Amino acid sequence: MNKIIVSVVLAIVLVLGINKITDLIFYVEKPEKSAYQVADVTTSTSTTSSESSEDSGDSSISALFASVSAADGAKVFKKCAACHSISKGGGNKIGPALWGVIGRKAGSISDYKYSKALVAHGKIWSFEEMNGFLIKPKEWIKGTKMAFAGLKNAKERAAVILYMNENSDNPLPLQ
Ligand code: HEC
Repeated sequence: MNKIIVSVVLAIVLVLGINKITDLIFYVEKPEKSAYQVADVTTSTSTTSSESSEDSGDSSISALFASVSAADGAKVFKKCAACHSISKGGGNKIGPALWGVIGRKAGSISDYKYSKALVAHGKIWSFEEMNGFLIKPKEWIKGTKMAFAGLKNAKERAAVILYMNENSDNPLPLQ
């Protein structure tokens, strides 16, 4: 009888012990899950905020032209110069020649081998289009081979767009 009672008690203790261990594992998992959730929330918040700054950037990029100069843009262009020429008659480097790029159709330099994605994009490089691209090239044109993270600062974008517009036979009128 005693042996039976002891083994029953042991069985209960075992079951309880297993429960506790399961609980422990369960508790370890929980914070992990919520940590992921927090990360998700952060990502989506930052996406939302960058989207909203994108929006305001979109509608006001030409409005920023008044507060920047082409000389500022020339400084910003140093970030691009490793891969792009900007002067008249400048050739292609890692990236296509950018003389007159504003107002030109995307992917239209005939002797440059663009990615399929950029050619398929096929839009005209308006101020707004260029602004959107320069925020995050790889997001604006998925599959572009331009390995450049982007210009987060709207004034830098405005300045470099103004600079590129001036380096052209046919600059677009500033609105
Ligand atoms: C690491 C090299 C690299 C840097 C830095 C870089 N680009 Fe590019 N860029 C490229 C490549 C490569 C392409 C061609 C992309 C494709 O075909 O998908 C390109 C394409 C472009 C185009 C499309 C041109 C066309 O003919 O349609 C524009 C506009 C452009 N870059 C502007 C810039 C500007 C402005 C900067 C600096 C803020 C910059 N790039 C920095 C490599 C670079």
